[in-house]
Amino acid sequence: MYKSLFTDVLKGKEGSRPPVWYMRQAGRVLPDYRKLRERHSFQEMMEQPELAADVTLMPVAVLGVDASILFNDILSIPVSMGMELVWTDHGPQFLKPLCHEDDIHHLFHPDLSKLNHVYETLDIVKKRGNAPTIGFCGAPLTTLCYMLQGTSAKHDFPDAKKFFYARPQETCYLIDMLTDICIEYALKQIEHGIDAFQLFDTHAGIVPLELYEASFLPAVKKIAAAVRSHNVPFIYFPKGIGPGLSLMTPEVCDFVSIDWQTSLSRAREMVHQDVGLQGNIDPFLLFSSKEKIESTMRKDYVPFFQNHNKWIVNLGHGVMADTPIENLLFLTEWIKDETNWW
Ligand code: CP3
Repeated sequence: MYKSLFTDVLKGKEGSRPPVWYMRQAGRVLPDYRKLRERHSFQEMMEQPELAADVTLMPVAVLGVDASILFNDILSIPVSMGMELVWTDHGPQFLKPLCHEDDIHHLFHPDLSKLNHVYETLDIVKKRGNAPTIGFCGAPLTTLCYMLQGTSAKHDFPDAKKFFYARPQETCYLIDMLTDICIEYALKQIEHGIDAFQLFDTHAGIVPLELYEASFLPAVKKIAAAVRSHNVPFIYFPKGIGPGLSLMTPEVCDFVSIDWQTSLSRAREMVHQDVGLQGNIDPFLLFSSKEKIESTMRKDYVPFFQNHNKWIVNLGHGVMADTPIENLLFLTEWIKDETNWW
């Protein structure tokens, strides 16, 4: 068993510096990933365990981050339910979005054995890796946005939102079904050795907080309870939730990942004191100069750590594909080499 700052901090221990990893670190920005992508489609890369394990482990070797995240996608769950997905130049597209279906009940035959390659990937990662691995899936609200709308091309998923209001019973049915699948999938990932689990709710902010709290948050709590009953720490990323951060209690998660819109100190005031924070560097900061990156860390982040050490460094959303990799390397090294964290 390796010694890990990341899992220590997740479990409430104090570290000499904050651990660091980045959302979307596996793939996109990495030169070796880009080379592989010239020969393989994204889908192929996810489905071949050796390749997927290589990409999972790349950021630890190349960037020096403290944890790896499984190379896969949140849309693998709807695919395992039989929804046909194509990856276009503009992102993912479901061929038959559910908002056009008159009756959704007969549609699904979830078959999680379609995700066996994920568990094989984790087995390889576990054998070859020397850092903790984060498993993940999409939260029911965010997954439903894509299943109902078909694509993220339309801002704020209007057809998905219409469906939530026009067809509340079917919405409930879909949430319950996805919750059960998320739990089964998460538990399988735990069986295959993940050290932490992150639930991505990138579109948590598209519905009013009252609707989120009544219909979607209970599902998150259920998934959290299942994951934590196996002693695996649970991180939740409710992007765009704003004042809803005050709903983030220990019943919801161990750590909450804060988006770039909300400052960490404001978030700290809203989130329950026993819940740790992750985040929230603006991914666009990585397009500025090294001097600006360093001064932002010193001004906005070092003082935060001095007051609140239950914190994991991450971005406030994913790394963009065209981020200058030397700046990502600089930031990671700066975090690890800085001696004045205390
Ligand atoms: O974080 C990681 O590096 C781990 C792997 C991971 C991917 N997607 C791989 C991926 C994770 C955790 C995700 C989550 C995901 N996928 C989310 C939630 C987090 C977020 O970023 O908002 C969402 C909304 C998706 C759906 C998705 N996948 C979209 C909209 C797109 C296209 C736009 C984009 O961001 O590239 C993807 C593609 C995707 N997912 C790629 C990778 C490596 C790029 C594939 C390629 O063309 O090589």
